[in-house]
Amino acid sequence: MIEVSKFDKIIAANWKLNGSLDFINRYFNDFHSKTSFYSNVCGIICPPSIYLNNFSINHPLFLGAQDCSKFNSGAYTGEISALMLKESNCQFCIVGHSERRQIFNQTDEDIKLKAENLINQSINPIICIGETFEEKKRGSTKDVLKKQIFNSLPENASIQSIIIAYEPIWAIGSGLMPTLAEIDSIHSFIKNIKNLEKFKILYGGSVKSNNAKNIMDLENVDGVLVGGASLDPSEFIKILNS
Ligand code: PGA
Repeated sequence: MIEVSKFDKIIAANWKLNGSLDFINRYFNDFHSKTSFYSNVCGIICPPSIYLNNFSINHPLFLGAQDCSKFNSGAYTGEISALMLKESNCQFCIVGHSERRQIFNQTDEDIKLKAENLINQSINPIICIGETFEEKKRGSTKDVLKKQIFNSLPENASIQSIIIAYEPIWAIGSGLMPTLAEIDSIHSFIKNIKNLEKFKILYGGSVKSNNAKNIMDLENVDGVLVGGASLDPSEFIKILNS
């Protein structure tokens, strides 16, 4: 398992349902020609799982998946287990992304099981939490985050193994974002739930190269989870170097 606590910054690319073999080849041609490398940054690329075996990436880049099954084996058509991800050289795995929670009805309890399975296979889970716009308007953001943390963090979570990503759902893919002060204060709130002071907490939702540095300079932010902007290698390299 990668010891996540040793990195200064963690920057993860969530490609979602995007990419092809041709896209991957072009992406890394571009990537390698433009890269000058950054110290003590953990960069994670999360392509669709079917492509995990088509990557040969080296430190400081690591490979991640976007989800895994809560089951380890059996009659669960279409599922991919933590062991299968491990055997595909996967080192990190996003779980509980709001798109999986909302579109595929995943619950906190499912996410906890997935995270446990991943840790048992020495894969670092990136556990996503975040409120909807309605919850924010109602003033219930903190209650929502607290419930998600209490119910989806596995018992075997440690500062070495787990990354938490705070992604306000209304900020994902929308170009909208909380203010920097709001992001810092929510991260500080999360760090104070259940002794999470030393856990790595990423911010996600409309992160681009032109706002990544300001976000990552915040005291309580340990990195970013990037969707749309990570599909452009020049953008992602700029974010890695922010
Ligand atoms: P976005 O997505 O950067 O396109 O807003 C972030 C995410 O869904 O993780």
